[in-house]
Amino acid sequence: MAIERTLSIVKPDAVENHRIGAILAMIEEAGLKIRGMRMLHLTRPQAEGFYAVHKERPFFGELVEFMTRGPVVVSVLEGDDAVKRYRDLMGATNPAEAAEGTIRKRYAKDIGENAVHGSDSADNAKIEVAYFFPGYEL
Ligand code: CMP
Repeated sequence: MAIERTLSIVKPDAVENHRIGAILAMIEEAGLKIRGMRMLHLTRPQAEGFYAVHKERPFFGELVEFMTRGPVVVSVLEGDDAVKRYRDLMGATNPAEAAEGTIRKRYAKDIGENAVHGSDSADNAKIEVAYFFPGYEL
C-alpha cells in the first residue's frame, strides 16, 4: 500500500464545541501521523476557493457562511492509504448515516455542520494540502 497524505479540517462547529483535542486524538489513535498543522479563521475568498467545485450546489452559500463562522484547524495526515483511512474514520458526510465510532457520529450535528473535512482522493489531497501549506516543507 502506498504512503499517502490527506488534508483534514476540524470545522468551526467542532472548534466551538471544544472538540479539537478529541478529534486529533482519534486521528492519532487510528495510526495516522500528523505532519503539519495550522489554526486559522478562513476568509470568504479562502472558503469559496477551497470549495470551488461545489459553487453551483444549492448549499454553497450556507457552506461558505459556516466555514467562515469561526476558526478551523487544518492538518496534513500521513500514512498507508491515508485518504481512505481518514474518510473511514470521519464517517458518512451526513452524520445520521455515519457508523458508530466515527468522528461525525460522535461530534457532527447534521450534513452542513459535520465537524470535519477530509480529501476525497490522493490527487485532491495534493491540491488541498498545497492550498493551506503553500511552500511549507512538511
Ligand atoms: P465536506 O466533506 O467538507 O465537503 C463538502 C461539504 O459540503 C460537506 O462536507 C458538507 O459539510 C457540505 N454539504 C454537503 N451536502 C450538503 C447539503 N445537502 N447541505 C448542506 N451542506 C452540505
